[in-house]
Amino acid sequence: MPIGRVRLPSGEHVPALGQGTWKMGESARLHADEVRALQLGLDLGMTLIDTAEMYADGGAEKVVADAVAGRRDEAFIVSKVYPHNASRTGAIAACERSLKRLKTDRIDLYLLHWPGNHPIGDTVAAFETLKRDGKIRHWGVSNFDVGEMDELIEAGGQNVAANQVLYNLTRRGVEYDLFPWLAERKVPIMAYSPVEQGRLAHNRELSRIAETHHATPAQIALAFTLLRDDVISIPKATALDHVRENAAAADIVLTSDDTAALDRAFPAPRRKSGLEML
Ligand SMILES: NC(=O)c1ccc[n+]([C@@H]2O[C@H](COP(=O)([O-])OP(=O)(O)OC[C@H]3O[C@@H](n4cnc5c(N)ncnc54)[C@H](OP(=O)(O)O)[C@@H]3O)[C@@H](O)[C@H]2O)c1
Repeated sequence: MPIGRVRLPSGEHVPALGQGTWKMGESARLHADEVRALQLGLDLGMTLIDTAEMYADGGAEKVVADAVAGRRDEAFIVSKVYPHNASRTGAIAACERSLKRLKTDRIDLYLLHWPGNHPIGDTVAAFETLKRDGKIRHWGVSNFDVGEMDELIEAGGQNVAANQVLYNLTRRGVEYDLFPWLAERKVPIMAYSPVEQGRLAHNRELSRIAETHHATPAQIALAFTLLRDDVISIPKATALDHVRENAAAADIVLTSDDTAALDRAFPAPRRKSGLEML
């Protein structure tokens, strides 16, 4: 089955399942394996690749560059600017450095990595300039809670195209008020650490549900994040078996019994909690 698609506010669609790159680019010895993993993911339809100037100090962007070499148009590249670089001129310079490392002329979605000290209106102005100049195609934010989203809109940030936040079965707090806020304004969510950095791959309740689907616990964790039609889930995997498993998670149809069991084991939030970050 093809991977489902999520609509961006522009009307463009991206795959609901992409690939993360945190921890890639840290070792020359692993470079070829990481490139191969991302390429396999591209082959399997996980064409959205998430990276950041922070990851391996730009090293992850270089892995992405090699993975998309000769097939740039197939990929939807997401990168992120450090908050301390997100001033009116700093964000433009940071983006140009990322473009060089990525060996491309445009980033498809450029995010502010987390809220920082530069006035958010200045970051928005920089993002709009980058967009006008064709260096980025969309911009968004990451690790923004409801209050920060309100401030963003007040500062002229209506063009926000996504908010990337920590979301998985053990991190459901965002369902309480952030997801409704985003859904109302049709801003898609990017779910980071969807397998809780690998920890959900060993969960007993997930193993039980996985057995009935001839699947793995990690696949059930991913299938949970894909239940909503406004979530783009971005697992990171270097092991080729993990890449294959993750792509196949898009085929899993959770039953109402499964979701009830998941809700019992990992209850939905009943009150507001602070936004969690990794
Ligand atoms: N915006 C932010 O602040 C922020 C924060 C954190 C992450 N992110 C983004 O989100 C991406 C994903 O999050 P993450 O890397 O923190 O965690 P994750 O995707 O939840 O977990 C990655 C870990 O899980 C393992 N894994 C992947 N698929 C698996 C499977 N099918 N079975 C068993 N284990 C599996 C990987 O192993 P192998 O690599 O060995 O295959 C890796 O150790 C990041 O890479 C990054 O792009 C963004």
